[in-house]
Amino acid sequence: MGEWIKMPITGETRIVLTVNGRNVEFDIDVRMTLAEFLREKLGLIGTKVGCNRGECGSCTVILDGNAVYACTVLAVEAAGKEVFTIEGLTEEGKLHPLQEAFIQYDALQCGYCTPGMIMSLKALLDSNPHPTEENIKNAIDGNACRCGCYPNIIHATLASSRKKSE
Ligand code: FES
Ligand code: FES
Repeated sequence: MGEWIKMPITGETRIVLTVNGRNVEFDIDVRMTLAEFLREKLGLIGTKVGCNRGECGSCTVILDGNAVYACTVLAVEAAGKEVFTIEGLTEEGKLHPLQEAFIQYDALQCGYCTPGMIMSLKALLDSNPHPTEENIKNAIDGNACRCGCYPNIIHATLASSRKKSE
């Protein structure tokens, strides 16, 4: 039988974590999700909330190297960990190669799924710099794009991984 984590179910607690390379410390409601924390406490509204119940992937962020749904992770679970959001991808105003490839290959329409989609793909490319089409499909099988941009998303990701190896 697993171990129970002893934690109050109401009230406030202090969390310290790293977000996009910066240490942050906040008093938060223990029931706050990581998505709410990022958007409401840090103003990182690039993390979108679509379904808010672990179905659409629009809230995907990278937590200690893994793509996770920020709507199904409590902020307190991220304490002491490292979080990356879409805002953490640009360096000195320069877009990440994956973001540039999305523009070049027209891999979005409304763009609502795009931050989550890119974070899932960033986690993939970090662990597997030369993914196959199948790897890419698996990486985004939890990210729904209502605009149906999947073929272009796959092309953009393949192009970005090729560029990295040039
Ligand atoms: S908003 Fe988190 S999975 Fe849909
Ligand atoms: S670009 Fe519109 S939902 Fe994906």
